[in-house]
Amino acid sequence: ELTEAYKGWLRYEKIEDQDWMNENGKWLSAIVSSGTCTTVIESAIEELIKAFTNMTGQKPALSDSVQSSYSIVLSKIEEGDDASNELNDDGYIIQAKKTDNGSAVLLAGKTDIGILYASFHLLRLIQTRTNLETVNLRENPTNQLRMINQWDNMDGSIERGYAGESIFYENNQFTNNLERIKDYARLLSSVGINGISINNVNVHAVETKLITNDFLPHVAKVAEIFRGYGIKTFLSVNYASPIQLGDLETADPLDDNVRNWWKEKVKDVYSYIPDFGGFVVKADSEHRPGPFTYGRNHADGSNMLAEALEPFGGIVIWRCFVYNCMQDWRDRKTDRARAAYDHFKPLDGQFHENVILQIKNGPMDFQVREAVSPLFGAMNETNQMLEFQITQEYTGQQKHVCYLIPQWKEILEFETYAKGEGTPIKRIVDGSTFKNRFSGITAVSNIGNDTNWTGHQLAQANLFGFGRLIWNPDLSVEEITNEWIHATFGNDPDVVEQVSIILKDSWPIYENYTSPLGVGWMVNPDHHYGPNVDGYEYSVWGTYHFADCDGIGVDRTVASGTGYTAQYFDENASMYESLDTCPDELLLFFHHVPYTHKLKSGKTVIQHIYDTHFEGVEQAIGLKERWSSLEGKVDQECYQNILDRLTGQIDHAKQWRDIINTYFLRKSGIQDEKNRTIY
Ligand code: GCU
Repeated sequence: ELTEAYKGWLRYEKIEDQDWMNENGKWLSAIVSSGTCTTVIESAIEELIKAFTNMTGQKPALSDSVQSSYSIVLSKIEEGDDASNELNDDGYIIQAKKTDNGSAVLLAGKTDIGILYASFHLLRLIQTRTNLETVNLRENPTNQLRMINQWDNMDGSIERGYAGESIFYENNQFTNNLERIKDYARLLSSVGINGISINNVNVHAVETKLITNDFLPHVAKVAEIFRGYGIKTFLSVNYASPIQLGDLETADPLDDNVRNWWKEKVKDVYSYIPDFGGFVVKADSEHRPGPFTYGRNHADGSNMLAEALEPFGGIVIWRCFVYNCMQDWRDRKTDRARAAYDHFKPLDGQFHENVILQIKNGPMDFQVREAVSPLFGAMNETNQMLEFQITQEYTGQQKHVCYLIPQWKEILEFETYAKGEGTPIKRIVDGSTFKNRFSGITAVSNIGNDTNWTGHQLAQANLFGFGRLIWNPDLSVEEITNEWIHATFGNDPDVVEQVSIILKDSWPIYENYTSPLGVGWMVNPDHHYGPNVDGYEYSVWGTYHFADCDGIGVDRTVASGTGYTAQYFDENASMYESLDTCPDELLLFFHHVPYTHKLKSGKTVIQHIYDTHFEGVEQAIGLKERWSSLEGKVDQECYQNILDRLTGQIDHAKQWRDIINTYFLRKSGIQDEKNRTIY
């Protein structure tokens, strides 16, 4: 028996609302599908049958023509139909249409995948108790590539995984639990994800062999499952594969043998997986091999792979996380934040059409708060794709609740001024600003084989919300949150209200008791959990806060610092450059200031640090109180899971508070105005 937590937002709880059932139940008793039954359509039908059966207690009838007065009808929109012009390939309409003796709710798309998405959408409408009588909606995804990156290793571990082991691999083999992979595909597809790379970007020895005959048959099996849900499979590859797999002595991208080697390799891959998506590549980054070894640049490297993939319609997703990770902390000129722009911007226009640059949302590394990457919009002749991190590496590792949709929403809405006003990041990465051939958004997954997938049940909201937000970045945080809560916890208004407050407040709370004002880091090295103010201060990683007895922060100005601010378009460059206009929340990301510097809030930096850290703990206590009020109103296992995590969060928040406050009291010698306990 599957637990409620395992079912996630696809629970399809029995509908107790009699009024709704009286008016709408009749549609849920019959499903009509007249077209060819492809695997994707089969997935749609299977999902609808399972859902209707659970929700109504009765299995719906399935037929290939309309038999009853009320039914759900799956239908294909042909080219030439009026509706066809309004839809892109993944789009769909859901519409109630009167028939002679009743009405049909049409789930119609130009493709099978559109119909599958329509089915999932209908189920969301039901879960939020929408009246089907008048339903009439049209949906097109804003982003073309809507991807997930697994950071799974074949030994079963997951890099930055906080919810158990891999659902894909164990003991350097593929797992046999294909059912679980299918359930993952259902969760992803239900929110519109259409691509997945199934292994870690750090491609170690065993994973390098994923593109060989040893493993391709297994990759093909996984790809088949995902295909049934409209999801294309990608692999992360090792740039040095020609050498690592023992065939060549070089991986120089301009060497003919190397180029041919990749062409043959790609042919092999497509012989197993004809709709294979392509390669994700982390090259010349954190000790991974890449074209630099051969005196070549990232265009040379990615274009070589692009040429091999091109005949099959495959793409190269090339990551921009390239920086010097062997920095000398004494060197104040080198600024890690500058690195991606400095490496890639000069190459604009040199990448093949089927190369996409994958850029992390910020220039550092998924901190609780950091500036947006200045690369967005800066390369108008290059495909760009945004990378978020759903797995909570720096945001509480799924032991703390930290709902990231508000953060991502803010980033997507950020005005770049790339083409003057009206070019927010969401309009860059959806390809509309520069008419890119490929574009989209991806994120590092947060799931593992824990029964509830994400360790902390509330972290499921980040996976769900990611899919919904990138399908349509214009959705509000409230709409997304609301959908998730209804689907996951049902329709009790009190539950809906309390859970939405918990989620909404969680990111600011986490920010309050961790590293202040955008400076980032202050975590323990390696595993990145828990406070350690100087953990990275004298390291090679380029992640410093420069706190001394007078002040703190990284001077990234043109006037006196690393000059990073100049990487933004003028309006933003000057906003960040000046202390008067730099937003408080990023102050220490851009400026080094005295502890006595007054924020726009009127507080000094030091008092802000003390206040937010005391407040953050109180707020964490408040989260637990709020959640406790829901005992008996949500599934007991979920209740306990979240309660336990919130209890742990409080303890750990205190640890953060006391270490940060004590550190800054000792450094600055400035007392807390309110004389609270600092050690
Ligand atoms: C971070 C993370 C690594 C990861 C890297 C990447 O540095 O800590 O585990 O490999 O990002 O995105 O490549």
